[in-house]
Amino acid sequence: MFKVNENYLKLPGSYLFSTISKKVNAYTAEHPEAKIIRLGIGDVTQPLAPVIIDTLHSAVDEMGNAETFHGYAPDLGYEFLRSAIAENDYKARGCDISEDEIFVSDGAKCDCGNIQEIFSLDNKIAVCDPVYPVYVDSNVMAGRTGVYDKNTGTWSNVIYMPCTADNGFAPQLPKETPDLIYLCFPNNPTGATITKAQLQEWVDYANKVGAVILYDAAYEAYISQPDIPHSIYECEGARTCAIEFHSFSKNAGFTGVRLGYTVIPKDLKAGDVSLHSLWARRHGTKYNGAPYIVQRAGAAVYTKEGREQLMKQVAYYMNNAHYIYNGLKEAGFTVSGGVNAPYIWLKAPNGMTSWEFFDYLLERVNVVGTPGSGFGPSGETYFRLTAFGSYENTVEAVDRIKNLKV
Ligand SMILES: Cc1ncc(COP(=O)(O)O)c(C=O)c1O
Repeated sequence: MFKVNENYLKLPGSYLFSTISKKVNAYTAEHPEAKIIRLGIGDVTQPLAPVIIDTLHSAVDEMGNAETFHGYAPDLGYEFLRSAIAENDYKARGCDISEDEIFVSDGAKCDCGNIQEIFSLDNKIAVCDPVYPVYVDSNVMAGRTGVYDKNTGTWSNVIYMPCTADNGFAPQLPKETPDLIYLCFPNNPTGATITKAQLQEWVDYANKVGAVILYDAAYEAYISQPDIPHSIYECEGARTCAIEFHSFSKNAGFTGVRLGYTVIPKDLKAGDVSLHSLWARRHGTKYNGAPYIVQRAGAAVYTKEGREQLMKQVAYYMNNAHYIYNGLKEAGFTVSGGVNAPYIWLKAPNGMTSWEFFDYLLERVNVVGTPGSGFGPSGETYFRLTAFGSYENTVEAVDRIKNLKV
């Protein structure tokens, strides 16, 4: 008789966003006339930029000709894309990353979830609290997290690094030494960032204790302030302690197109075993590459036209972020984020829990956000709004919330 992976049974409840959509569906069934505005899930809403569409079209045409047809992609991804990434995302920022240290994939979520596979089950992970749930849940599935405590919403074998208003939503170095440290800046869900000097402390710490930092840079394109690092490799010593994840979802609207990449420097080793070679083995065995047409579209992101058009798209969302941030602040809410990130993190008013505030906003003003507790216990009295809606919906949602006079 077969047996299931029992670690899956340890996962508490259903995934955050399915709970939200169940609640919204139930509300809509009862109130079909309600105009719901969704500022919950971090999905983009603007269409792909013209240069991306043109590139996709011409790449599709190439696939229709025997001379220009492409089958399986090379294991690490096409050279034309990896060299554009190495040049623009790294060399231009003074980072020493070569194109054969870049693994192209179909997005950051899979890579963030899969990377734990190349590490021993004995490793102890440290995560920010609140946190993007994928880091913890993928380790639960692997059996690395111990026992779940329903009352605290924490796992016995995970080191939590609270990110609260008191520390500016930036984690402190943990008291207990971790093996794997997940960091994400600009942060989802808090929208917080850390400076290069703060990130350098993490790199120094990881090198000192022999830990690996798993650095998620999915929101790097939203950085507007000069002292915020776009890549962990801007820090000295990161080549020996850091893996970095990138996504084309938020900078170029590829959430439905699917493209990302992971960087593993060849200097990152456990004894003489290089993590680069383990991930290359994993990639070659379990993955057959992002589509040619999508990798072509990814390379268009780095062209002059691509940069200009995408800068406008990011500015569009950041304009929404400013509208949310300023509007809610004026209305008396305690807000943070929204400056270098498309997320606004607000304190639920009047002592409400985050799910109470979720229900309150849904029922009173038909606005959907994400309860902070879905990201971890330190999010309990917080709420996340995203700037990824249309400008019109964002303005209407914020104006509805302002009129609540909570
Ligand atoms: C922190 C973080 N990392 C990764 C992802 C997923 O990116 P992708 O669409 O490339 O899978 C998201 C998506 O919301 C995210 O918030």
